[in-house]
Amino acid sequence: MKKRLLLCSLFSVFLAGLLSVQGISHSGTDNEIVKARMASMKVIAANMKSLSKVSRGRDPFDLTEVKDMLAKIESSAAETPILFEVNATDSTSEAASEIWENFQDFKDKAFALESTAKALISTVASADDAAVAVQSLGSKCKSCHSKYRN
Ligand code: HEC
Repeated sequence: MKKRLLLCSLFSVFLAGLLSVQGISHSGTDNEIVKARMASMKVIAANMKSLSKVSRGRDPFDLTEVKDMLAKIESSAAETPILFEVNATDSTSEAASEIWENFQDFKDKAFALESTAKALISTVASADDAAVAVQSLGSKCKSCHSKYRN
């Protein structure tokens, strides 16, 4: 009897798992590798958003905060090659299989973002600079996404 109950509850866990896959949500993946790389991209995006607000005068320019945003983009970009090293995918992932066919090129694109963010940390000094930074960083996101994100 106990065993039956256990089997029954295992089955409902299984069903719940199936159902949650259907509501395809980006954070809803159970794949730890996919989850980690999405989380890292979200950190990059959140800091780009903050930087963009500063560049449009929506938030005040604070040099320490701006450098911190750039440093977070730099360190997340440095993680990208490690986080994508394993060719993992699931139904929520937008990672293109071309990543693992051209891994060196993919790494170069991650490095382009990392080194741009790094250089900006020592040059950024005003809201206008932040605007130029957003443009220049944004082009690095685009050059990778257009090729490697579905
Ligand atoms: C070297 C390549 C590369 C660079 C550079 C890059 N990305 Fe990505 N990004 C990806 C890939 C690949 C995915 C899809 C990952 C997945 O779904 O498994 C992704 C996904 C994302 C996502 C969706 C995350 C989610 O939860 O599904 C956001 C947001 C994002 N990137 C923002 C950015 C921003 C902003 C930049 C630039 C500041 C950037 N990325 C730079 C490759 C890159």
